[in-house]
Amino acid sequence: MLLHIENVLSPELAAHYREALERAAWVDGRLTAGYQSARAKHNQQLPEDHPLAAELGQNILAALERNALFMGAALPCRVFPPLFNRYDGGQSFGTHVDNAIRQARGSGDRIRTDLSATLFLTDPADYDGGELIIEDTYGTQSVKLPAGHMVLYPGTSLHHVRPVTRGARISSFFWIQSMVRGDAQRTLLFDLDMAIQRLGAELPDHPSAVQLTGVYHNLIRMWAEI
Ligand code: NI
Repeated sequence: MLLHIENVLSPELAAHYREALERAAWVDGRLTAGYQSARAKHNQQLPEDHPLAAELGQNILAALERNALFMGAALPCRVFPPLFNRYDGGQSFGTHVDNAIRQARGSGDRIRTDLSATLFLTDPADYDGGELIIEDTYGTQSVKLPAGHMVLYPGTSLHHVRPVTRGARISSFFWIQSMVRGDAQRTLLFDLDMAIQRLGAELPDHPSAVQLTGVYHNLIRMWAEI
């Protein structure tokens, strides 16, 4: 499932983060790429141990914890500390698949990358190109979202970033290990969750709402690993 989550950050907060990031010292993104993706990766990245990455990353994680759509869709077990990248002057990232397991710098924590996330921090009017192209089972999806919006997609997907031919594109990106490993099961749970919420809003006293909520939790019990 590919999901667009609006306003993870307000436009004002996204602009504030982007301005702070513009002043930071970026390094070659290939320093953190795996063997396969290093050849395809042409961008800049904020060092993982940069204080600004830690500060903004914590704020982003706090915003995600308050975001019901993210929590319901990702069913997160662990979230990788958010990273930041920047593309300009024709930079791009060719087709690749993200590493299955990531280890955060300076910690022994390893996470399985069930889901990938990109949080856009630059308004689409401020750059040309830079679309995130995701090869989904339903075909190829082109994603370029307003500042503060995020796309969540299966970590199993092949994806690439098209060249940025005007301006600069700054984003945060990270991975999520879900309590529910499989995309198919996670999608069913999300659909059920959405239907239960709609039922609860439209027919709050209907006994099926309680029964379906029970089914939801029993499926979580069956599928979750924590
Ligand atoms: Ni990637």
